[in-house]
Formats: sequence, C-alpha cells, structure tokens
Amino acid sequence: MSKRIVIAIDGPGGAGKSTIARRLAVRLGFLYIDTGAMYRAVALWAERQGVDWDDRLAVEQLAIAAEIGLSSNPLQVVLNGEDVTEAIRRPEISQGASKVSAIGGVRRALVEKQRTMAESASVVMEGRDIGTVVFPNADVKIFLDAAQDVRAERRMKELGEKAPPPPPRERVITELQERDERDRTRAESPLLQAPDALLVDTTRLSIEEVEEAILKIIREKTANGKEFVRS
Ligand code: DC
Repeated sequence: MSKRIVIAIDGPGGAGKSTIARRLAVRLGFLYIDTGAMYRAVALWAERQGVDWDDRLAVEQLAIAAEIGLSSNPLQVVLNGEDVTEAIRRPEISQGASKVSAIGGVRRALVEKQRTMAESASVVMEGRDIGTVVFPNADVKIFLDAAQDVRAERRMKELGEKAPPPPPRERVITELQERDERDRTRAESPLLQAPDALLVDTTRLSIEEVEEAILKIIREKTANGKEFVRS
C-alpha cells in the first residue's frame, strides 16, 4: 500500500528552509509547499487594497477569500490568478507577512488551505508551525536553524542577487531580528521547535551536506524502500 508522506520543515528566516525543502521535494518527487509565500501573498493583497496589516478583521477576510496557487516547477506563486512570485519577495512584504501571520483568523484560513494542498500527494512543507500545528503527526519533522549572523549573510546574498546591490548589512540584521522576535513571541502558533522535531544546525554546513543529512533522517524515519505516493 502506498502511503502519503508529510515532511515538515520549520525554522527562522535565513536558516535555509526554502532551498533545502525545494531540493528535497525534487529528490523525492514530492510536492513542495512554501507556506511563508502564502502569508506573503495575503500581506501583498492587503497592501494593494489599502488594508492595514494590523486590521485583524479585514486581513482575515482577505486570507479567507485569497485563491493561492503554488507550483514548484516552475517555481511560482499565484494570487487570484496573478503571478506574484517576485512581488511577494520585497522586504516590506517580509515585514507585512510577519505581521499578518500573527492574526489568528489569518492562520486558521491558511492552515486549512495548507492541509487541503497535502490531501492527495506526499509533500515537503516549510514554514514556522508545520510540525507543531499544521501537521502535528508529520512523518518527519526537521527544525532548521543557524547563527543569526550567518542567516543575515544569506539573506543579504539572496536580496543582492535579485536586485543588486545588496542592502546594507545593518538593515538586514535589524529586519531579521524584528521578524524573529515577532514570529517567536506571538500568541498564535509561535515559531518553536516541536518536541519530536530533529534540530539541524546549518551554520557550518553546505547545502549538499544539509540535504544529505535530512535525506538520511527521512530514509530512517520512513523505512527505506517503502512506496510513497508522489505528486
Ligand atoms: O518563510 P518566509 O520568510 O517567507 O515567511 C514570511 C513570514 O510568514 C514570516 O515572518 C513568518 C510567517 N510565517 C508563519 O507565521 N507561518 C508559516 N508557516 C510560514 C511563515
């Protein structure tokens, strides 16, 4: 019998979640689901509608109504039929996503969409609350972390590659700190390591090393050789 597998990857910004989750999904033939992109899409829509990110009721209504499509090949985020893949990566939207993700109603709406996305396929899902809230029974739970200066360095590189020159180091560090603080201390589903998640510290590891370490964990946890349902 084939089994649907859920790999949950949580951790703070810049720990390497997106890169690793995407690579794992390709290797395993699973769906890749970037839940941060969904919070970003809601923040973008609110901004465009002139809705304040702190307006809980209005933002919740947007989250419920938002039609969000994620595809991994090509990597694309679609909001209400429009390709917003690039637009959601602006630094202001990072802050907006962190704000709207603290709203309980927004989280409930998006968690429901996330669970639906994983109904018919095996998935690698990355975010902040996947192993704790979205899929507390996930087959494999990984918490990716790295030293803050290394995470800031990675964020700078990423932003610099998209739109050179890279932003000032101090600004990137401040924004990362603000976002970390908000994500870790909010009342609703704060960022934390699930008790049964395995911590992988990526500070001194290459992408390949992290990928191999996690693949090893997945093989052990899911009994190597078992047939998975693929996407
Ligand atoms: O992973 P990211 O930087 O794209 O996420 C953007 C924001 O969304 C981040 O500040 C925290 C929030 N988020 C969340 O609260 N829960 C998730 N599952 C994913 C992201």
